[in-house]
Amino acid sequence: VRNLLSIEDLDRDSIEAILALAANFATVADRPIKKLPSLRGRLVINLFYEASTRTRSSFELAAKRLSADVLNLVSSGSSVEKGESLRDTVATLSAYGPDAIVIRSPYAGAPALLAGWTHAAVVNAGDGKHQHPTQALLDCYTLKSRLGSLDGLNIWIVGDLLHSRVARSCIQAFTLLGAKVTVAGPPTLVPDAFAALGATVRHSLDEMREADVVYALRMQLERMDQDSHVPSLREYTAHFQVNSRRLGPRQLLMHPGPVNRGIELSGEVIDSPQSLITEQVAAGVVVRMAVLYEVLAGSAAPSEDPDKQPRALAPQTA
Ligand code: CP
Repeated sequence: VRNLLSIEDLDRDSIEAILALAANFATVADRPIKKLPSLRGRLVINLFYEASTRTRSSFELAAKRLSADVLNLVSSGSSVEKGESLRDTVATLSAYGPDAIVIRSPYAGAPALLAGWTHAAVVNAGDGKHQHPTQALLDCYTLKSRLGSLDGLNIWIVGDLLHSRVARSCIQAFTLLGAKVTVAGPPTLVPDAFAALGATVRHSLDEMREADVVYALRMQLERMDQDSHVPSLREYTAHFQVNSRRLGPRQLLMHPGPVNRGIELSGEVIDSPQSLITEQVAAGVVVRMAVLYEVLAGSAAPSEDPDKQPRALAPQTA
């Protein structure tokens, strides 16, 4: 895999290979010295045009654990605020000769554009409502670590699917690994079109007890004109909140974060032993180590001889 832009770039075997590599890296995470020299001398740029806590911190930690040099750039406080375009920002950063660029953008398709402008490997850390492939991979890793396999698993993805890049990536990844996926929520947030991704569509949580895993999604209030999607948050919560009344004692609970506590999830289920939310966050580091290793493993390691260093990579012209 040269770039990771979408789960569509992967098949079952390549997902299994990334998860196996992540499991190897997890054994290092338990050691007193958690660093490996694998990406020594490589430069990873984290380019975040949208807010993030989990993805940004775990990509940074993953690159550092593999001994890469890391440059973090967020749009706030950068020349993006002065109007610099993505293309010009990438042209500027390319002067440093990055080996990989990790990008989060509010615009669907921005990582694919970036891949055409740089010789660095590009990893999509979430683009608009399109894809969040490393989130789906870490969710697969979390489930595999807990249950051994996703084959035959019944997974319900509940809530605001309409605005969710996580949902699209997870439906594809879970299905590739053999799970049966149901999506549930009000028709305004879970359109029947999701059936085209291979999911069963439900507009109530009445049958949710049949699920092995309930994967709740955040109500993306910043992306919606609330009145046009749900009558009120109180109404939404009354019908679709995952709480201890709806979640059975043997069902596992997941959420990509950040959580709107008291809206899509009640406080008691977030803090219950059924919740895998903290395990998902921990999995983010080893899975992103595996992804960075995977996209950089095929490219030549930098020479120790300063005369043989690659020249700064200029962006391709259109
Ligand atoms: N799940 C996720 O992408 O979280 P962040 O927005 O905090 O990175």
